[in-house]
Amino acid sequence: AKEQASIITIFGGSGDLARRKLYPALYQLYHRGFLGEHFAVIGTARRPWSDDFYRDIVRTSLQGEPNTDDRSVKHFADHFYYQSHDVTDAEHYVTLKKLAAKLDADYEAEGNRLFYMAMAPRFFGTIASHIRSENLLSETGYNRLIIEKPFGRDFASAKELNDSISAAFTENQIYRIDHYLGKEMVQGLLALRFTNPLLTPIWNKDYISDVQITLAEKVGVEERAGYYETAGALRDMVQNHIMQLIAYVAMEQPATFTPAAVHAAKNKLFTHLPVLTPEQAKRDWVRGQYSASPSQLGYRNEDNVDPESMTETYVAGRIELDDPRWAGVPFFVRTGKRLPAKSTQISINFRPLEHNIFDTVGCNNARVNRLTVFIEPQQGYTLTLNGKTLGASYELEQNALSFVHNQDEINGAPEAYERLIGDALAGDQTNFTRWAEQEHTWNYIDVIRNVWDNSTDLPMYTAGTPGPAEGDALLSRDGFAWAEDF
Ligand code: BG6
Repeated sequence: AKEQASIITIFGGSGDLARRKLYPALYQLYHRGFLGEHFAVIGTARRPWSDDFYRDIVRTSLQGEPNTDDRSVKHFADHFYYQSHDVTDAEHYVTLKKLAAKLDADYEAEGNRLFYMAMAPRFFGTIASHIRSENLLSETGYNRLIIEKPFGRDFASAKELNDSISAAFTENQIYRIDHYLGKEMVQGLLALRFTNPLLTPIWNKDYISDVQITLAEKVGVEERAGYYETAGALRDMVQNHIMQLIAYVAMEQPATFTPAAVHAAKNKLFTHLPVLTPEQAKRDWVRGQYSASPSQLGYRNEDNVDPESMTETYVAGRIELDDPRWAGVPFFVRTGKRLPAKSTQISINFRPLEHNIFDTVGCNNARVNRLTVFIEPQQGYTLTLNGKTLGASYELEQNALSFVHNQDEINGAPEAYERLIGDALAGDQTNFTRWAEQEHTWNYIDVIRNVWDNSTDLPMYTAGTPGPAEGDALLSRDGFAWAEDF
């Protein structure tokens, strides 16, 4: 690994995300030599902490992480500095600027600055405008901004947020996180699509009947009701993760594997997301909310949830791209909390055989071929083919060709946040989202949101079951069914 020099400022350094994801990710980058002696981290948050106290927090966040030993953890944590910070106080930014300059000199960080917004999104705009007005940007190295989700709550607020960060950073300095783009099998999907001449010619409406994307979670809302009540599954999972997966499944092959070419391909695909009418939104999108089971609380009984909450914890939808490659092919998507299991997967269902010659001998049980990419927890893919059963007849059966990554190898591979922070340090924007993508996806989502906000129809499903019947009816109505269980 090529060592990267940088002063990394984390706004929200005391927060849950920093502790659960960012410090472990930075540590693994350090362990792999991607970070070495030429980096320092400034953590900021409101509370008054000392560097020592902060370093303790950082060390604690690494407990149980792979590749740790006391000595390396200590060396790593010694690169961390804490600055208590009120995001609205201009003076505090001046202090931050001085600290960054000092650390830059001490660590020979080549004038590079990486800013990470990992706190409540309502502060993102204020921070960005102060970064600019108090001139925290470096003139000798790079300036980059990593910004966490949610990127707005509708088109209007996303645009406002984008305008405010754009006042300080140009598009090619902005790294909008969608952690699904850091997942091994999501990146693997591109390799699968674009390196197999077996698949390339059939990846279109002539051979594919429908695509299904499932992002199922077993957990409920956990301790995040404060956020989730204002979001719901449509904003939380569909606008970002599901849309990004659709782009990777459906986009044309980029001319080269460069950020610009990949984003151009994605952007072009998103221009084929139709603008829904309210009638289409009503017909093609369903929501649901989990109710209590004998062993689990219903959503409305969870801590900090309104007892009459209309927030959806489940969404299923049908998307039809108005793109020549995909015209008429439904993309069925679903996501939800308190479903039977954690399961993230994409199924590509191929069209049925036009004519089965074995019909003549009474063996007409050929099924459609299916390619399923398992993203998590299992990582791999399965291709189902028809074969002949053993014996004298031509009775057919489904045979699955499967590849599964070995669990030890998965554990040793970088986690999504590690990859993405590593990419940002290396200046690679490929697996981040651009503003144009946000614009198209929010415009699509807003129509559905509006319809739901003006409706009292909210199907319930029992916690631990596969979601409301409406989610199945969406497919059966067109003669389809969810291909994989979870
Ligand atoms: C986050 C959502 O973006 O993704 C959470 O805010 C969700 O609600 C999480 O639980 C799922 O991510 P993963 O990586 O566990 O599939």
